[in-house]
Amino acid sequence: MSDVRVRAAVEADLPAVKAIYDVQVAGRIATFDLEPPPLSYWSARLASEARGDHLLVAVDGTLSGSDDVLGYAYSSSYRPRPAYDRTREVSVYLADGARGRGLGRALYDDLLARLADDDVHTVLAVVALPNPASEALHRACGFERVGVLPEVGHKLGRRIDTALYARVLAG
Ligand SMILES: CC(C)(COP(=O)(O)OP(=O)(O)OC[C@H]1O[C@@H](n2cnc3c(N)ncnc32)[C@H](O)[C@@H]1OP(=O)(O)O)[C@@H](O)C(=O)NCCC(=O)NCCS
Repeated sequence: MSDVRVRAAVEADLPAVKAIYDVQVAGRIATFDLEPPPLSYWSARLASEARGDHLLVAVDGTLSGSDDVLGYAYSSSYRPRPAYDRTREVSVYLADGARGRGLGRALYDDLLARLADDDVHTVLAVVALPNPASEALHRACGFERVGVLPEVGHKLGRRIDTALYARVLAG
């Protein structure tokens, strides 16, 4: 029986987080990275103590006796200038076999609750198009599509638009 839950990531999760992301780097347009970032990139995300920075994982604890990472979500600075401090950018990635059964939603529900506790005001997400699953997830989590940046990415021989999604948390 599956025992899937969402929790804060720990260092031991990072190789699995990196593996999930690296698949997207190599052959998909969801990220505009062209080379896999080193493990230290993920360690630095985990180590951030900035308010509103989180790295969460969805894990199944029953597959091998130890937690098996099925996906992750994170929040980080949108832009470094200090007037942006109460805004966070979020992203979420699942392993190929873990999609379409509510894990993206579970990760975002937990992440957005943590961001509200941190007094984050606005949450942004950038979705490379087309990505119907990601657009549906963001809509389901209360984000509004606020604009499209035309042909800002160039990957796998294609020019790629991005949609900007926003959700204002504070009333
Ligand atoms: C995008 C992603 C995180 C979605 O996670 P998921 O666990 O598959 O989504 P969920 O099962 O939680 O579904 C969330 C909502 O999206 C809808 N949805 C999921 N996949 C969909 C699809 N392929 N097409 C249309 N709608 C879809 C669900 O019906 C649900 O909507 P509802 O709450 O109104 O019923 C996942 O597909 C993924 O990791 N994709 C690859 C990486 C990626 O693109 N990340 C996003 C970067 S911006």
